Amino acid sequence: MEISNSIYGDMYPYLIETMDRLTCHIEAIREDMKRSNGMDPVEHVLGRIKSEESMREKCRRNDLPEDKDSALDKIHDAIGIRIVCAFIDDVYVMRDKILELEGIELFKEKDYIKHVKPNGYRSFHMIIRVDGKVYAEIQLRTISMDTWAALEHHMKYKKNIQGNNELIVRELKRCADELASTDESMQTLKDMINDL
Ligand code: GTP
Ligand code: MG
Repeated sequence: MEISNSIYGDMYPYLIETMDRLTCHIEAIREDMKRSNGMDPVEHVLGRIKSEESMREKCRRNDLPEDKDSALDKIHDAIGIRIVCAFIDDVYVMRDKILELEGIELFKEKDYIKHVKPNGYRSFHMIIRVDGKVYAEIQLRTISMDTWAALEHHMKYKKNIQGNNELIVRELKRCADELASTDESMQTLKDMINDL
């Protein structure tokens, strides 16, 4: 990316470095947990820097000037990391482990697992501040939650479904709830196996 034109200015390389550092820390937590209890709490981890177009669009949507200050200090998801976990309890374990990392401060959390969005979206979001310098959004969710979010996102952008078609909205919500109930059953199975 051309630094001079980027909304992130000269901070772009630092954002990439911070994202890479965070994903490395997350991989280390994974390795640690695999070693200590033989179970990998994470299925996969994805990191991204919000694209120039999306960031500019978000600035406009929030009535903010399209500049570095908005992109880095007013908007908090320039760095985005998604952690997809096997089980619901892993989501909360990973949350706690991440907050134990040095240089990480919790700025805000939204628990859409306990407080499900009306459309059925489930995920645990946290905004953290890294080294007192930049923000990052971490989304933690199970495989089922991730599957649903990916499909819902896909459909939302295919056609303007939200609010337009009651049946589709209702069915999507039902799928989300069914997946959530499967997640709970899988968690119970895992607990039963652990107790053997
Ligand atoms: P944004 O302006 O979209 O970043 O939202 P926000 O500031 O209200 O934050 P929130 O934590 O609600 O959502 C942040 C991100 O979570 C979004 O950019 C999506 O990646 C994801 N997300 C939130 N709600 C939904 C949803 O209903 N469906 C899907 N597929 N993803 C969602
Ligand atoms: Mg976002």
